[in-house]
Amino acid sequence: MRIILLGPPGAGKGTQAAGIVEKYNIPHISTGDIFRKNIKEGTDLGKKAKEYMDQGLLVPDELTVGLVTDRITQKDCEKGFMLDGFPRNVSQAEQLDTFLKEANIELTNVINIEVDKSILVSRAVGRRICKSCGATYHIEFNAPQNEGICNVCQGELYQRADDNEETVSKRIQVYLDETKPLADYYTKKGIISNINGEQSIDNVFKDIVAALGSEK
Ligand code: AP5
Ligand code: MG
Ligand code: ZN
Repeated sequence: MRIILLGPPGAGKGTQAAGIVEKYNIPHISTGDIFRKNIKEGTDLGKKAKEYMDQGLLVPDELTVGLVTDRITQKDCEKGFMLDGFPRNVSQAEQLDTFLKEANIELTNVINIEVDKSILVSRAVGRRICKSCGATYHIEFNAPQNEGICNVCQGELYQRADDNEETVSKRIQVYLDETKPLADYYTKKGIISNINGEQSIDNVFKDIVAALGSEK
């Protein structure tokens, strides 16, 4: 399976990705996670990416596309992969297509998680993430058993730097302007499944599995 997860900030891409990669046993490639790891490690890429991420803007394509295509050429992606947060504009999608064509690889599914704009800000602002294992919570919709502490590993929970109301609103606007057109792009290719992301986390997952099928 070679899957793209599409959807606005706070749609539940990361939350659903965790279940999908476990069920289908494929690597989870999240450009946002890769950039955040680089920021934490203080790399040159991290320093450049941070300037854009803190403003809610897209990191330039030159810093993003090669990162993903290099990752796809690694051995563990031979069995399939799931891209979360990439592509994010038509130019990235076209560059990905060119790369995949040359590598003789075909995408199998695009899962488009749809959530109304009015819900997205509270989803992102209430998000908390485990420092140790990366598990994602929400202070209201998916609260940890003990405030500020991860259920899985007892790690400390933190809030992402770009999860404040102002930056989230900017990220949503960038999504509407630059990323949403990709739904049309992949509809034309006939590989998109639109999923209602306003249901419970479990029901969204069931709909995604129904769209992907039980095949591995
Ligand atoms: P990225 O990390 O990809 O962030 P995003 O797209 O803004 O999406 P989020 O991670 O905020 O949301 P999500 O859909 O994963 O939601 P989650 O499952 O966590 O990108 C960050 C930045 O990196 C970008 O702004 C850009 O600068 C840069 N970047 C990344 N990729 C790039 C690219 N390709 N090109 C250029 N720049 C790039 O859920 C959110 C919350 O809601 C959680 O608290 C969760 O518990 C809760 N929740 C989830 N599902 C439900 C549900 N069904 N009901 C109730 N609550 C729910
Ligand atoms: Mg995410
Ligand atoms: Zn944890």
